[in-house]
Amino acid sequence: MIERNISSDTNNIDNSDSPEDIKFEDSLRPKTFEEYIGQDQIKKGLHLAITAAKQRGETIDHVLLYGPPGLGKTTLAYVVANEMGRQIKVTSGPAIERAADLAALLTNLEEGDILFIDEIHRLPRAIEEILYPAMEDYVIDIMLGKGPSAQSLRLDLPKFTLVGATTRFGALSGPMRDRFGIVNRLEYYTPEQIEKIIGRSAKILDISIDDKAMQQMSHRARLTPRIANRLIRRVRDYAQVHGTGVIDKDALDNTLLLLDIDEYGLESADRKVLGIIVDQYNGGPVGVAAIAAATGEERQTIEDVYEPYLIQIGMLQRSHRGRVATDAAFTHLKVKKASKDKQSKLL
Ligand SMILES: Nc1ncnc2c1ncn2[C@@H]1O[C@H](COP(=O)(O)OP(=O)(O)OP(=O)(O)O)[C@@H](O)[C@H]1O
Ligand SMILES: [Mg+2]
Repeated sequence: MIERNISSDTNNIDNSDSPEDIKFEDSLRPKTFEEYIGQDQIKKGLHLAITAAKQRGETIDHVLLYGPPGLGKTTLAYVVANEMGRQIKVTSGPAIERAADLAALLTNLEEGDILFIDEIHRLPRAIEEILYPAMEDYVIDIMLGKGPSAQSLRLDLPKFTLVGATTRFGALSGPMRDRFGIVNRLEYYTPEQIEKIIGRSAKILDISIDDKAMQQMSHRARLTPRIANRLIRRVRDYAQVHGTGVIDKDALDNTLLLLDIDEYGLESADRKVLGIIVDQYNGGPVGVAAIAAATGEERQTIEDVYEPYLIQIGMLQRSHRGRVATDAAFTHLKVKKASKDKQSKLL
């Protein structure tokens, strides 16, 4: 079954899921292309493939979805299954440890099923190799017995569609990548699209948000639907306890202050990453390992969670010699520091 990272730090609007967040997310998850906002090129391509496959009475090609966390990969896998009118079976790379696990999964599929493998880059190599003939020819070779008397048995599989998702395209092996007919990279959303997502979620949750707050919120959500939905929830709590129950600018401002989210949607952890490059390495270049050591974060978290957004908003650059903080990062940190100093003087 699907594995999720459970965050111990529930105060953060970070990109991992607490059990409550999971429930909340599931209720907001779009089910159709129409409900799924943005990613228009990807939707168009998938819609065409699905329509054509349906007309021919076939399954669609295997689909690979990649991109930063929270942009809608899992959601899109469910949408594809729903639009195909087929069942989806969900698993993840690290959950398939042995060949027998994969064999059981594959042989239990029904014709036309969607098999969703999340974190597909974490599939063990030996398992990947069993998956290749399954993807290409819908067959699986099972070894019976051990040693010289071992025999290989070839089983036919129903025609299925594999949908793989990963935040780390680069960690996927070449042969694995090549076996997907449809490969899509999910992009960050525009503030306008995030605004639409906030509007949709607010409607489902029966929350009123005034226009000003909505617009401001769309710029604080790191261009990421999951963060937008989390933010709504935190502001709703604030509005319920301290305000009128309506999400207005006042409730939003206070929530953002409480969560220490700045005007770029950066949290203290993001600013810490930038701060290390700026202050300790004079803007860089500096290797990820050094940033990881100085922040106490995993290297992978730095690469997958923090960096993509910092790069997207032009505060960080990747060069072959390491990471470099841009002028925008220097300016932003200086402004932040000055306003903090001013605040502490006033207190
Ligand atoms: N295009 C969209 N329109 C509206 N809501 C969206 C969209 N994409 C994602 N969401 C919302 O954002 C939440 C997070 O999306 P999802 O879980 O699909 O991200 P993900 O890319 O699979 O992330 P991860 O890499 O962490 O697994 C969903 O619960 C859904 O409510
Ligand atoms: Mg996912």
